[in-house]
Amino acid sequence: MTNIILETKNLTKSYPLNGVEVQALRGVNLGIESGEFVAIVGPSGCGKSTLLSIMGGLMFPTSGQIFLEGEDLNAHKEREKAQLRRDHIGYVFQSFNLLADLTAAENVEFPMVLANMPESERRSWVQELLKRVGLSDKADHLPDELSGGQKQRVAIARALANRPDIILADEPTGNLDSATAAEIIDLLIGLNRKDSVTLVMVTHSPDDAASAHRSIHLRDGQIEN
Ligand SMILES: Nc1ncnc2c1ncn2[C@@H]1O[C@H](COP(=O)(O)OP(=O)(O)O)[C@@H](O)[C@H]1O
Ligand SMILES: [Mg+2]
Repeated sequence: MTNIILETKNLTKSYPLNGVEVQALRGVNLGIESGEFVAIVGPSGCGKSTLLSIMGGLMFPTSGQIFLEGEDLNAHKEREKAQLRRDHIGYVFQSFNLLADLTAAENVEFPMVLANMPESERRSWVQELLKRVGLSDKADHLPDELSGGQKQRVAIARALANRPDIILADEPTGNLDSATAAEIIDLLIGLNRKDSVTLVMVTHSPDDAASAHRSIHLRDGQIEN
């Protein structure tokens, strides 16, 4: 047995666009080991976001399979799949995707509510997560009252809500200035090194890619060797 946590087999994805098929992925095979930090790099439009969404079960491939801890993700009913996603995967997006009407604390708490975590447990875990991302003093702020870097910290705390084994981050620093970006990368790297969270990150930054254990280069929907 290897300790492959996430594996894709022959993934393809085509999007219909004005009657033509856009081939976004053309047979992607990869394996991510538990505890790894893997960067996914490649030019704009090469399929990075598509790959990450499919790996995380947020989108179906046109063909191929995704194995999460050995489980064929898309062989499960939607409800079980949602549970697998919730229990194992945390997502971080370039555009933060926070709920605008909820405070920082409520955003972090939201996935815990979905996972039926008891309220008493939720409250202390939210506090601890906000502390971990350095935002204890912003718990009651709405997203609009936070800077980009602070929003991304909330999003990272939210991604950790259900103690995921793996974090999938799609250009998490794409909307941030370089100093703030460096802080967010340090935070993510810390989760990988200290807390052994497996990290798969799409990035355009050669520096960020250099801090990963390895990089996967995508081009025209395929892995380049
Ligand atoms: N919803 C969609 N409908 C049609 N084409 C799409 C859609 N999403 C992505 N694409 C196309 O698929 C290809 C890969 O896109 P994407 O995965 O977003 O690449 P990247 O993240 O590397 O920039 C691109 O050609 C893009 O235009
Ligand atoms: Mg993208």
